[in-house]
Amino acid sequence: MIGAITNDFDSTRPNVARMYDYYLGGKDHYAADRACAEEVIRHAPQARDIALANRAFLGRAVRFLAGEAGIGQFLDIGAGLPTRDNVHEVAQRVNPASRVVYVDNDPVVLIHARALLATDAQTRAIAGDVRKPSDILTHPDMHALLDSSKPVAVLLVAVLHFIPDDQEPYAAVRTLVDAMAPGSYLVVSHAEQTPELQGAAKRYERANAPAVLRSVAEIRGFFEGLELVDPGLVNVRRWRPEVADPWQDPNVPFFGAVGVKP
Ligand SMILES: C[S@@+](CC[C@H](N)C(=O)[O-])C[C@H]1O[C@@H](n2cnc3c(N)ncnc32)[C@H](O)[C@@H]1O
Repeated sequence: MIGAITNDFDSTRPNVARMYDYYLGGKDHYAADRACAEEVIRHAPQARDIALANRAFLGRAVRFLAGEAGIGQFLDIGAGLPTRDNVHEVAQRVNPASRVVYVDNDPVVLIHARALLATDAQTRAIAGDVRKPSDILTHPDMHALLDSSKPVAVLLVAVLHFIPDDQEPYAAVRTLVDAMAPGSYLVVSHAEQTPELQGAAKRYERANAPAVLRSVAEIRGFFEGLELVDPGLVNVRRWRPEVADPWQDPNVPFFGAVGVKP
């Protein structure tokens, strides 16, 4: 049972969307976000590299989905603040007819997303919480843009590690997968439970959402009933890499996969 889901604007409380923007080198963050993010970086010097690796994984996954997989509609839950290579831009570069619904539970993310992302008739941004999947699935704006009888890609990229087990993230993913037409795809990326990330995760206790690390087997559990496309669940830098960057750490403690519903 989830308590009241509020995520009101508070510039003095570290905010996970704005901390991620800070790691990515963006400009939409406040002093409290920067201070907390710097503490995370002190405990896990890879934090910035992890964020960049995750963002690059998201881009490659969307290019695969819009191209090889032939997916034309995307539901991006936990979309984050607008940055470079947003999902609709990547998808529409491959298939200009791609339609994207961005979902986030952060009101500031939504203001930015409505102003900067949902700027064409094929793109919308709606308020929604992954812990309330039925509300997302029945949202009128979702239905106005996405056809639930056709395959869709549901993106849960770097968001499920903000949902503790007692808030039932596995049940939420199951509800979303059950609603997807056969041939639909699920993309998940997630922070791995490692000793080095443990200290960093504790810094999120005072943020607007906790960081919940999970083992690779636990992350695999989100794909129950789905077939993983090659190369399966791997650290995000090893998911279909396009360029070999010898100076980048190939082993970030952050796992991702793309699954298809048979
Ligand atoms: C780390 S960012 C990831 C952004 C983007 N998906 C990416 O990977 O580049 C996490 C986003 O999830 C959002 N978020 C956190 N908890 C959420 C929830 N329960 N429901 C919906 N969005 C949530 C945050 O507001 C933030 O925008």
